[in-house]
Amino acid sequence: MILLQICVLFLYFVSSHEEKVKLSRDGVRKFPDEFLFGTATASYQVEGAWDEDGKSENIWDHFTHTQPHLITDYSNGDIADDSYHLYKRDVEMMRELGLDFYRFSISWPRILPSGFADRVNEAGVAYYHNLIDEMLKYNIEPMVTLYHWDLPQRLQDLGGWTNPLIVDWFADYARVLFENLGDKVKYWITINEPAVVCYYGYGAGAFAPGVDASGIGEYLCAKNILLAHAKAFHIYNDEYKSKNGGIIGISYSAQWYEPASDSSVDIEAAEVQSQFEWGKYSHPIFSETGDFPDVMKEKIAAKSAEQGFPRSRLPEFTQEEIEYVRGSSDFFGLNHYTTFLVYRNESVYGVHPVPSFYDDMDTGSYQDPEWEGGESEAVKIVPWGFYKLLTEIRESYNNPPVYVTENGFATYIGLQDEGRVRYYREYLSALLDAIDEGCDVRAYTAWSLMDNFEWTKGYTQRFGLYEVDYESPERTRTPRKSAFVYKEVVRTRTLDLDYEPDTDVMTIDDGH
Ligand SMILES: *[C@@H]1O[C@H](CO)[C@@H](O)[C@H](O)[C@H]1NC(C)=O
Repeated sequence: MILLQICVLFLYFVSSHEEKVKLSRDGVRKFPDEFLFGTATASYQVEGAWDEDGKSENIWDHFTHTQPHLITDYSNGDIADDSYHLYKRDVEMMRELGLDFYRFSISWPRILPSGFADRVNEAGVAYYHNLIDEMLKYNIEPMVTLYHWDLPQRLQDLGGWTNPLIVDWFADYARVLFENLGDKVKYWITINEPAVVCYYGYGAGAFAPGVDASGIGEYLCAKNILLAHAKAFHIYNDEYKSKNGGIIGISYSAQWYEPASDSSVDIEAAEVQSQFEWGKYSHPIFSETGDFPDVMKEKIAAKSAEQGFPRSRLPEFTQEEIEYVRGSSDFFGLNHYTTFLVYRNESVYGVHPVPSFYDDMDTGSYQDPEWEGGESEAVKIVPWGFYKLLTEIRESYNNPPVYVTENGFATYIGLQDEGRVRYYREYLSALLDAIDEGCDVRAYTAWSLMDNFEWTKGYTQRFGLYEVDYESPERTRTPRKSAFVYKEVVRTRTLDLDYEPDTDVMTIDDGH
C-alpha cells in the first residue's frame, strides 16, 4: 500500500505537463479476462427518419430546422446515417469488429410522441426490438442510453430540463423502456453527459434547445437532471433488477484539468474547475457525503450574494434528496476525450458574462500547442490525462467500477486515419496503466462506430472507425485503418503497439 502511494506520488510529480511521461510500456499488454469492448453512437446522430412512423419533433430537429446557420455545414439529422433503415449493416459492422457490446441511445419522441407516457408508439418500440434482436443473434450485448440529448420538443415548450416536473416525465419514460425492453437489455445508462445537456443547452445556449440563461439555467437543469437520473435508477433497482438482472448507471463527460504550473493557486484552480465541470454531477452520486461539491456551493452562493440575488443561483437539495441521489449508479460511466491546463491570475477576472458558469469558477484554461490535434479543435492527444483522471476517480470515490462509455478522436475524411490509430493505442495503453495501479475499469467504448452528425459541427467532424459516405444514398460505410487496429485489440484481448493491419478486406471471423 505504501509502495503504491509512493508510485502514485512519483508519477504525479514527474508528469507535470511539460515533461511528457512515458506511461506506456513496450510490448504486448493483456486486458483483464472479463474486460468488455464496444463502440457507441446516439439516436439523433445516426438514425435519421426524423418524422417517420409516428416519431414527433425533438429539440435537435427544431434547433437545426429553425436555425440552420448555427450548424457549421447547415446540416441536420433528418437522414444522418439512416440507421433507422440500415441497422442490419450496423450490426454487420459490429460483427466485423467482434464487439462484446454496442452502446446506442433511444429517441424519446420515437417512443412517446407526446413526450408523456399516455401513448406508446409501437412502431418506435419495434425498431429498437429489431435492432436489439439482430445484435443478440450474434451475442452482441445492447448497452442502452435512455437520454442522449434528443428531448421531445413538446417537453421543451414546457421548460424542458429546467422544469422540476421533468423528474417524473423522465421516470415515466424510463419505466416504459424497462417494461418493453427490460428482458433483453443488461446495461442501462440513464443520462449521457449531464454537464453538456445543462451547460450547452440551458446556460451557454449553443446546443439545443438553445436557452441562453447563463449562470442560472445550467444550475436548475443540474439539480433536475440528477433527480431524474436517480428516480430512473430507483425504479430499475426496486422493480426490474431482480427479474431482469441488469445494471444501470450514468455517463459523465469528464476531461482532465491539469494545473498549468505547480503554484498552489493553479493547483487550486484546476481542482475548482474539475469540481465545476464534472464533480457537480459525480460528487452527488459517488462521494460519501453526496450533494453538490462544497466549493461550488460556496463560490456560487458568494457570487450570487454580491450580484444582488436573494438566494444562491445554485438550487439546494433537501437532505432527503441528497440521500436519494447518493449511491444511485451501479458504475461510473466515463466519456473522456482530452486534457486542459488550468490557471488563475488577474487575467481571468471580468472577462466572462455576469452571471455565468465561467465567472463563477474564476479560472482560465488552455491546451499545450505541442499536443497533437485532429479535426476537432479541442480533442488533443494527451493519454496521461486519461491515466490521471482514472486514478483521481479511484482515489476520490473509493474505486468504483468504471465503464468507459466514450473515447475517441476526430480526423479528416479518408481511410488512413493515423491520428486516430495513435490516439486509440495511446489511450488504451494509459487505461492499462490505470488498471495496473488498481483502477477497476471494466469496459471500453470507442466513439464512434461510424461518422455521424456531430451536433453543431454537422458532418464536418468525423469520429468514426467506419467512414460514412454522405453523398451516397446508401450512406456507404467503409472501415478505416483504426477499425482494423481496434478489431485486433478486441480479437486478441491485448494491445500490441506495433501491430500493423492488412487493410484490404474486412471479414467476419468468429463465433459472432
Ligand atoms: C495568466 O496565466 C496565463 C497562463 O499561464 C498566461 O498566459 C497569462 O499571461 C497570465 N496573465 C497574467 C496577467 O499574469
